[in-house]
Amino acid sequence: MADRRLTAGAVAARKGGAPIVMVTAYDAPFARAAEEAGIDLLLVGDSLGMVVLGYESTIPVTLHDMLRHTAAVVRGTHQAHVVADLPFLSYQVSDEEAVRSAGMLIKDSGALSVKLEGGAETAPRIAAIVRAGIPVMGHIGLLPQTAGLGPGYRTRGDRERVLADARAVEAAGSYAVVLEKVDAEVAADVTRALRIPTIGIGAGAACDGQVLVMHDVLGLVANPPPFAKVYARIGEAAREALAAYAAEVRAGAFPTK
Ligand code: KIV
Repeated sequence: MADRRLTAGAVAARKGGAPIVMVTAYDAPFARAAEEAGIDLLLVGDSLGMVVLGYESTIPVTLHDMLRHTAAVVRGTHQAHVVADLPFLSYQVSDEEAVRSAGMLIKDSGALSVKLEGGAETAPRIAAIVRAGIPVMGHIGLLPQTAGLGPGYRTRGDRERVLADARAVEAAGSYAVVLEKVDAEVAADVTRALRIPTIGIGAGAACDGQVLVMHDVLGLVANPPPFAKVYARIGEAAREALAAYAAEVRAGAFPTK
């Protein structure tokens, strides 16, 4: 089937319209299921590190990890917009490195856009990547790559700071911005103040769209964050199925003649 993917421009044009639905994806089969379910955007998040690769944080995730998993998500889908995270230390050092890392995600994995964390301090990197012709999704509020190094995981409620970051990533050319763990009233103010869509995670109902981590939605992790909603118990179903398989093999009931 030929690809007819939602573009970054089409996502930007959804500002104030029907809510945008985004979920993370890390492999072809679950990406296909999400696309078949009508999800608009698939985020190959660097949450990959925790939910798939078994790390404690996103910090060890490499550009190579992101390339491999993004390519799998692209291969599994035809319509959804695929946005890939730039992992820690693939964009912080210089504009040149940021453009090169973003370019690799577009060229080598087939992502249609990239996402990077940071507000006003990251705006020059966003502008450099956008100048190279690559659409960028911003990510402000709680920044998972560095939260554990000092700032912590509390909800961000400083209206002036969050607004300034939002305006900076918009001015730098982002087509949309993720608001992570931002106080719901602040997120509503930011959503009203920006021309680009806001996509919330733990940021209340007023954002232009919502994103959740696939493994939280499907009940594949032991302790999902309180703001996530668990829509299925796939982890439990998998354990039951695998236990039934093991029991049948041990009992000589599988395979049959
Ligand atoms: O990596 C990720 O899953 C993310 C979401 C939390 C937005 O960046």
